[in-house]
Amino acid sequence: MSGTTRPSGRRIWDRCEALARCSEEAGALTRVFLSKEQRAANELVLEWMREAGMSARQDAIGNVVGRYEGSAAGAPCLMLGSHLDTVRNAGKYDGMLGVVAAIDCVHVLHERGARLPFAIEVVGFADEEGVRFGATLLGSRAIAGTFDPKLLDSRDGAGTSMRDALTAFGLDPDNVAQAARRRSDVLAYAELHIEQGPVLEAEGLPIGVVTAINGATRLAVEIEGLAGHAGTVPMSLRRDALAAAAQCVLAIESRCAREPDLVGTVGRIEAAPGATNVIPGHARFTIDIRAPRDEQRRQAAADIQAAITAICARRNVKVAVHRTHEGRTAACAPWLQDQIGRAIEAEGFPARRLPSGAGHDGMAIVDLADIGMLFVRCEGGISHNPLEAITVEDAELSARVFLRFIEHFQPAA
Ligand code: GLV
Ligand code: MN
Ligand code: MN
Repeated sequence: MSGTTRPSGRRIWDRCEALARCSEEAGALTRVFLSKEQRAANELVLEWMREAGMSARQDAIGNVVGRYEGSAAGAPCLMLGSHLDTVRNAGKYDGMLGVVAAIDCVHVLHERGARLPFAIEVVGFADEEGVRFGATLLGSRAIAGTFDPKLLDSRDGAGTSMRDALTAFGLDPDNVAQAARRRSDVLAYAELHIEQGPVLEAEGLPIGVVTAINGATRLAVEIEGLAGHAGTVPMSLRRDALAAAAQCVLAIESRCAREPDLVGTVGRIEAAPGATNVIPGHARFTIDIRAPRDEQRRQAAADIQAAITAICARRNVKVAVHRTHEGRTAACAPWLQDQIGRAIEAEGFPARRLPSGAGHDGMAIVDLADIGMLFVRCEGGISHNPLEAITVEDAELSARVFLRFIEHFQPAA
């Protein structure tokens, strides 16, 4: 099947710029789950999907879903997508590139009047990053049918429950299960994403095939000491929650530095009451632990919890550790790796295979269908940072490869 039209790097670029303007902060990009900025982004994406010849809707958890029928209406689909939420002060491509590139591929098929033997669905997932409620992959878990309804009672930093946030967004919290899809409806899931690391750039390669997504554990820690006067309480009699948290942070760093491929991050820490002349009576922080092997990650998480318990006991402060996320390593299916690899080679590049240190929606979708991923290089490997950068040429090339993969897609036998 050939045609004169091709994916447009410029259109993809312009759409990433348009999405970047849907932000809660002027001059920076932050867009969290169930926010008015998410609504604005969803509206743009729904419009682009329709323009690309898809029927498009928002599902029961706020994902946007576009469908391009195959040669026979109602056929099972090849699902494509990525996420539309961002971290705080994010780059413009993490997530969004995969959504707009997938729409561009369908746009081209539509312009050519081409129908494939299967349907294509493009999903813009509502929450992958987990910024608002701590738990991640909420959109993709809902689609995979693994969304845990207990999460509806979790609260954001302002005390709003997920249940209330869904209602305020115009969704019914009791209907989230309706977003779930059947295995028989989905032939496979494929995602295009920036690498978020430096490997492809260092090797002078624009694209690569992902072999697996590293597993992740997230913990939330609360420490309760005793607030007191910063001038009167001798050092030996203090129960300083922040000092205890600081010692925990260093223990996490040193445990994770002991093994190659294991990483641990405390990305957020808060102390209360938060005054210069008051000993902090309360501290809380988050922990993110990742490794390519599940056993390695679980052992590190157990050791870290034991170290936190010991530190807090020695300092006579109370501690509670909650697990907010547990995602096992998700392998990309070898048959999809091969098909993505062949599409890369057909464009004249070697099919470099590499694992993903970052998490992706495929970690949840793997419970529904086999997954595959195509990585695009990003400048300096920088991500989760406004300095995230790609080129128009790489955006176009990666979409061309993705379209070739889609056109030649053969479902597993
Ligand atoms: C998502 O980007 C993650 O890896 O945390
Ligand atoms: Mn991210
Ligand atoms: Mn991402």
